[in-house]
Amino acid sequence: MSNETTAPPLAHVDTAQINPHQPTADALVLFGATGDLAKRKLFPALYHLQHSGSLDVAVIGVARSDWSADDFRAHARESIKNHVDNADLSVIDALCDRLDLVQGNYADESTWNDLKSMLDKHDSEVAVYYMAIPPSLFPMVAEKLASVDLHHRGRIVVEKPFGRDYASAVELNKTLHSIFPEDHIFRIDHYLGKEAVEDVLVFRFANTLLEPVWNRNYVRSVQVTMSEEIGVEGRGSFYDSVGAIRDVFQNHLLQVIALLAMEPPAGADSGFLQDEKAKVFAAMRPMDCNALVRGQYVGYRDEPGVTDGTEVETFAAARLEIDSWRWAGVPWYVRVGKALEQDATEVVIELRDPPRMLFDEAGGPPPGRNLIRLRLGKNDGVTFALQAKTPGPNMDSEEIDVNVDFAAALGERQDAYERLLDDALQGSLRRFARQDVVEGTWRIVQPALDNGGTIHPYFRGSWGPTEADSILVNDDTWYPVSPT
Ligand code: BG6
Repeated sequence: MSNETTAPPLAHVDTAQINPHQPTADALVLFGATGDLAKRKLFPALYHLQHSGSLDVAVIGVARSDWSADDFRAHARESIKNHVDNADLSVIDALCDRLDLVQGNYADESTWNDLKSMLDKHDSEVAVYYMAIPPSLFPMVAEKLASVDLHHRGRIVVEKPFGRDYASAVELNKTLHSIFPEDHIFRIDHYLGKEAVEDVLVFRFANTLLEPVWNRNYVRSVQVTMSEEIGVEGRGSFYDSVGAIRDVFQNHLLQVIALLAMEPPAGADSGFLQDEKAKVFAAMRPMDCNALVRGQYVGYRDEPGVTDGTEVETFAAARLEIDSWRWAGVPWYVRVGKALEQDATEVVIELRDPPRMLFDEAGGPPPGRNLIRLRLGKNDGVTFALQAKTPGPNMDSEEIDVNVDFAAALGERQDAYERLLDDALQGSLRRFARQDVVEGTWRIVQPALDNGGTIHPYFRGSWGPTEADSILVNDDTWYPVSPT
């Protein structure tokens, strides 16, 4: 069957209904306040916001656990101390003064009435309801908020994964839209909150140097790698229910590709940016399973929480194509995986050879192609691999790197969650994912979810199964990622 017949339809969204600028919130309600995400990311992010003076709201946890507000404050205190280096105790105290707790079961009506009273106590008119809870609970929590009329008094932030496939994402959107309008649904993809990922936009559209070559006439291939050294440490049960394609490919990776591939937005408003992303996914062919290799690291099946004989992938490599005027014919190679040799989130734009090689008097191997490497992970920055004259009497060229390390050049930047929480409180949709874009990403990966094919074993610390080479065309090879 061809991809065209298996691919879900394109999604549409009524953009006229979307107001990209919502009023500033006066309370933050954390569902899942005692969970892992809150501990690792949200409390540290709140700490930083408090530290910079940007936090000016009550933070209300909702938790099923049998905790008092003081237990909750102690938990937040501990989380911050464990995740923020040299945390300032006076800042933690100031943050803890903002914390309050609604304790109760989500199924009980009293929990929702208590939440309402709590918001009244804090004179809240516009709350951010942050769902740091399993996605299966999103609809229930949204409905319960509506049952006490709190949906008119705030907006929701939902964590990924947004759905399990195209159909469930559409369904979830429908359910949430029956309660909240699109512009009150903030879908988090923390990659959109990373400075280095956002810099892709600035890099492309604030530098005249690049735009003329950023297309099929000059670009030979694009490679995107998201590799992690760790396996699924401690998250076996969650991970085994998703796999690499749902965990990072459908969301983080495709969002990065949208920024790399899109046309310049018509203006600065977030809607224009979302429009261009949606167009990329409309022009992208849904995954071709013949150009997809799934792998699983040896030892994954012994991880706690993983089902016996599981066929879930911890690695995926795919060749994508974008049938647009800018990109038709350019292969986009993408690989993601756990337990790989090195941590990296890196893009390599490979440019075409010059029409004639003039500088090869010594008759050595042909010079390497120009590469633009965008490092989007911890060591973020950019490297241009260029040719320069080899010293000596001959006219030969050799590769030199022109490299910028962003932390050194620009200083330390905010963490993704800090920025996203602040955006949600300020009411800015810019760094969140719109319905049609999310559905568009599921449309791309759906064939892989339906029929991902064989799973290939690979060893921890490798670059995945060697079969990943089979998706490369035109004698291409995977470029090694930048050393750390
Ligand atoms: C999460 C995935 O969304 O992103 C994890 O669930 C993954 O499996 C993580 O490790 C990677 O994020 P970062 O910011 O560390 O690159």
